[in-house]
Amino acid sequence: MLLLCTFLTLCLSAVHSQFPRVCTTDEALRDKSCCPAGKDGSPCGSNSGRGICRNWVTHVPFPNLFEASVPQYDDDRLNWPLDYFNKTCECFRNYSGFNCGDCRYGFHGEECDLKKTVVRREIRELSLPEREQVFRYLTLAKTTKSKDFVVLTTEDRHDRNTYRFVDATIYNVFAWIHYYSTKPIMTHSSFDYRHTYAHQGPAFPGWHRLGLLFLERQIQLLNSDEDFALPYYDWRGEENCSICSNDFMGDNDVEGNLDPSSYFGSWRSICSGFHRVEAYCPVVDDESQMEKLQRQPGTDPQYDRLPSFQDVEDTLNLRDFDRSPYNSRATQSFRNALEGFIMPSDGMTLDTTMHNQVHVYMGGTMGQVPISSNDPMFVLHHCYIDKIFELWITKYDGNPNSYPENDEPGQGPEECCTPYFPCYWNKDLLRKSTDLGYKYSTYQGS
Ligand SMILES: *[C@@H]1O[C@H](CO)[C@@H](O)[C@H](O)[C@H]1NC(C)=O
Ligand SMILES: *[C@@H]1O[C@H](CO)[C@@H](O)[C@H](O)[C@H]1NC(C)=O
Ligand SMILES: *[C@@H]1O[C@H](CO)[C@@H](O)[C@H](O)[C@H]1NC(C)=O
Repeated sequence: MLLLCTFLTLCLSAVHSQFPRVCTTDEALRDKSCCPAGKDGSPCGSNSGRGICRNWVTHVPFPNLFEASVPQYDDDRLNWPLDYFNKTCECFRNYSGFNCGDCRYGFHGEECDLKKTVVRREIRELSLPEREQVFRYLTLAKTTKSKDFVVLTTEDRHDRNTYRFVDATIYNVFAWIHYYSTKPIMTHSSFDYRHTYAHQGPAFPGWHRLGLLFLERQIQLLNSDEDFALPYYDWRGEENCSICSNDFMGDNDVEGNLDPSSYFGSWRSICSGFHRVEAYCPVVDDESQMEKLQRQPGTDPQYDRLPSFQDVEDTLNLRDFDRSPYNSRATQSFRNALEGFIMPSDGMTLDTTMHNQVHVYMGGTMGQVPISSNDPMFVLHHCYIDKIFELWITKYDGNPNSYPENDEPGQGPEECCTPYFPCYWNKDLLRKSTDLGYKYSTYQGS
């Protein structure tokens, strides 16, 4: 995967993701310190007042796991990011990034004092040149090695000596983050298949919101285009997937292979293939072992429909952001209807709806949760899910206080959205999107 486009990445500055390359040296990992030099050469840009290096102070929801006297194999993601770093940069004012070298989402300029709001539009609202530009940008992100970030790979999560941090392209870092979050959580040497970090709990909408912001910002930096906004796919009431054609996301054959002449026809999925639960993405740096993208929209008779206009309206009628037990069985929960474990019409009946329904409708790569983020359809789908989240926030004046206390690992209001770095509290993503520098067009449907 080492690509010849490193020269294109030289102008990129650090932003927000995992793992910062400079913090994966043996020394940084041993000291658990991630306070790299900012632009002025001082740690966290402290000489120019951008931030300081500090001991990590956050509540630790699972202290028993750290105090255990018998050796146990616990999950490296619990109490994120304490297993890796206990000293990190705290950035002031509008500065952000792992070395405070970048701006908070929504801010630009050398001093991060320029506010900017980009507009995410429905993909069919874009002109042909605009659409082709989006596809070119995505392709460049898929083929350009990330200068700032590396990803973790291992065949054995129990054995930290086998962990390797390797190069990945910008799009693949994005795809990897989602994959990593979906691995079952390991506590006291056993696996818990019911919970993962990005799904089946109140963190779901904000977690995906942060991933999209990361990708959008990386693409802005890569192309020096601060106006770039991700597109969305409003699938309401579609009889067939009308963007599954070569003009848009690509046609497929009966086996599900994307048309090789379509825009994404040659893309391959990192972390693809069957993996043991102990592994983290063993197929990450050998392109020949990665599967090509697959899609089979509407061919599974059990899941041959996309959600309707009414489904979205019913979802937005659920007033409570989330409800106990804060998992896939929560009833009358906006989050659980949006995620798609209950019927929006009654907020009760367990079924495959909304977000989940679109994944299984698309099938192929999109139908496999851990690797679904490899298909750019994931980006368009999740931007629309995020638009519905935003409509709910607007309708009910949702804010960080709407985020519930709960005991699910990684899903607490003041836990870091896992595995993003630096830390964003889960509850802080439940706020108006304009606070984060973007909004959505008012598309009425085709
Ligand atoms: C951070 O981790 C290092 C390395 O394990 C350890 O020596 C140090 O005591 C820790 N610091 C705090 C504040 O926990
Ligand atoms: C962030 O930038 C905005 C827009 O320029 C400015 O008004 C605001 O004061 C800045 N915030 C801080 C905390 O510096
Ligand atoms: C949707 O696909 C089915 C099966 O290929 C086809 O019969 C039908 O005409 C399509 N509907 C639209 C609106 O294109």
